[in-house]
Amino acid sequence: MKYLYILTLAFIFSSCGNDKKKEATDNYVTNAVPKTPMEQSVSRGKEIYGELCVTCHMPNGKGVPGAFPPLNPSDWLMNKRKESIHAVKYGLKGKILVNGAVYNNVMLPLGIDDQEVADVMNYTIQTWNSGELVTAQEVKAVMK
Ligand code: HEC
Repeated sequence: MKYLYILTLAFIFSSCGNDKKKEATDNYVTNAVPKTPMEQSVSRGKEIYGELCVTCHMPNGKGVPGAFPPLNPSDWLMNKRKESIHAVKYGLKGKILVNGAVYNNVMLPLGIDDQEVADVMNYTIQTWNSGELVTAQEVKAVMK
């Protein structure tokens, strides 16, 4: 009797597994639908963030109090769109106020092109804040 019970359980678990596999395949098909320009930019931006920004702004975007300001969320990023593009494109130094806290540090230029600046900004804006799509043209127009 005990064995039958175990067998039944094993059967239930294995059929659950199959359901999951099927679901995963269905999701894959859904994901194959062409992404919007915003979704494409955000997913490229996620890669760039993981390579270039995490070390200071942290994987969760919370930064390091007193040293590296947060991007998750950031009133600076939200309210100063042009200055934020400028910062990511050319670097930033000096006193700034982010979410009511003072930072007086240096962010060096990151050496990425206009499209990459747009992508990484779209990732940080769409993941942790809100705002319209940043385009390479918009980044290009921000002069030093
Ligand atoms: C070496 C550390 C470092 C790296 C790497 C870095 N930052 Fe920063 N970032 C800073 C510091 C420090 C400041 C604040 C500078 C100041 O005090 O004037 C800052 C400020 C900012 C700000 C404006 C303030 C805010 O919190 O909204 C944005 C936006 C930003 N960084 C985005 C990025 C993005 C996007 C990347 C990756 C492409 C990146 N940073 C990589 C250190 C870094």
